[in-house]
Amino acid sequence: MSYQDSSVYETEDPIKFAYWVPNVSGGLVVSKIEQRTSWDVDYNRKLAQIAENNGFDYALSQIRFTAGYGADNQHEPVIFSQALLEATERLKLIVALLPGPWNPAVAAKQIATLDHIYGGRVAVNVVSGWFRGEFKAIGEPWLDHDERYRRSEEFIRALKGIWTEDDFTFRGDFYRFTDYTLRPKPVSQPHPEIFQGGSSRAARDMAARVSDWYFTNGNTPEGHKAQIDDIREKSAANGHSVKIGVNAFIIARDTEEEARAVLQEIIDKANPEAVNGFASEVKNAGKASPEGEGNWAKSTFEDLVQYNDGFKTNLIGTPRQIAERIVHLKSIGVDLILSAFLHFQEEIEYFGKNVLPIVRELEQEHLSATL
Ligand SMILES: Cc1cc2nc3c(=O)[nH]c(=O)nc-3n(C[C@H](O)[C@H](O)[C@H](O)COP(=O)(O)O)c2cc1C
Repeated sequence: MSYQDSSVYETEDPIKFAYWVPNVSGGLVVSKIEQRTSWDVDYNRKLAQIAENNGFDYALSQIRFTAGYGADNQHEPVIFSQALLEATERLKLIVALLPGPWNPAVAAKQIATLDHIYGGRVAVNVVSGWFRGEFKAIGEPWLDHDERYRRSEEFIRALKGIWTEDDFTFRGDFYRFTDYTLRPKPVSQPHPEIFQGGSSRAARDMAARVSDWYFTNGNTPEGHKAQIDDIREKSAANGHSVKIGVNAFIIARDTEEEARAVLQEIIDKANPEAVNGFASEVKNAGKASPEGEGNWAKSTFEDLVQYNDGFKTNLIGTPRQIAERIVHLKSIGVDLILSAFLHFQEEIEYFGKNVLPIVRELEQEHLSATL
């Protein structure tokens, strides 16, 4: 299919761009290749400024209490995101929250305060956990796959209730509230945007009921389309609307050969011990669901070198090739590209200067052709 194919999901809104905040060490690939990406706050402040000046709408911070796969140091996402909000003017920070360690009353209050300080530039990504060793390390009870999603859904319902209602009362299995009124309410209307990560049946059903955004791992266009069709159908039946963000590790170079050579070098220099350790931990994600599907359920060694399957999306090549593939993703219903890069600062700038203008041009051409 080419980018000219149209679909029922088509929107006139320009596709949005987010990047993974490297607030954990080792960059976004589990490889010993040289990376000019750092997890420290000075690097990240500058990166956030480069991103907002190069057309990026969002930055997504990660939550990890401990990790193998080279991500040995991890900064806490709420506080780290605040540092990036302070350094920027337009960029929106999507802050990862992990139900279990995070309680919705504390999270709702922290995020409402950030939302006030930074004029509505904060969103949340509710993640559900896949790393059993991490839960054990911090003494947090480990729930079965679908139970984790039942808790995440209650967490999201609690956030929404606290942010939008006075005298909020909620009787869940995991969380309870009685006549609780948060003051001040967030400035974002109707509330800060709620993203979620995960793509198993339970994750999709949760998205189709309560999330504003569904984030999924890298995949082929066919793989993404199958998920999108499924979620759109389910959310429509629920009278709910959910937007879609897909992960991609982007390697844009002047020639396709250069871009492919970088991918090959990343894979050749992969750290096998770390990748295999990660492969064994992620069996607690999609594979542990009742249907055995979801994130990482079918990932190969090579896929896992980018720890959210980002090579599979194939945004690897020349600026034009990448722009055409992005516009094609938009035509199958993708609203946002969540990106990662080898050398974040240099490559986000290259992307903004060389790829984004072609994306906007193609979007425009496509719109004129359908009018
Ligand atoms: C874009 C994205 C971001 C995520 N960020 C985190 C994170 O910061 N911390 C974390 O523990 N899990 C994170 N996850 C993992 C998910 O919350 C979820 O536990 C995992 O994808 C398994 O989902 P599944 O079994 O429903 O497919 C993320 C997932 C995605 C797709």
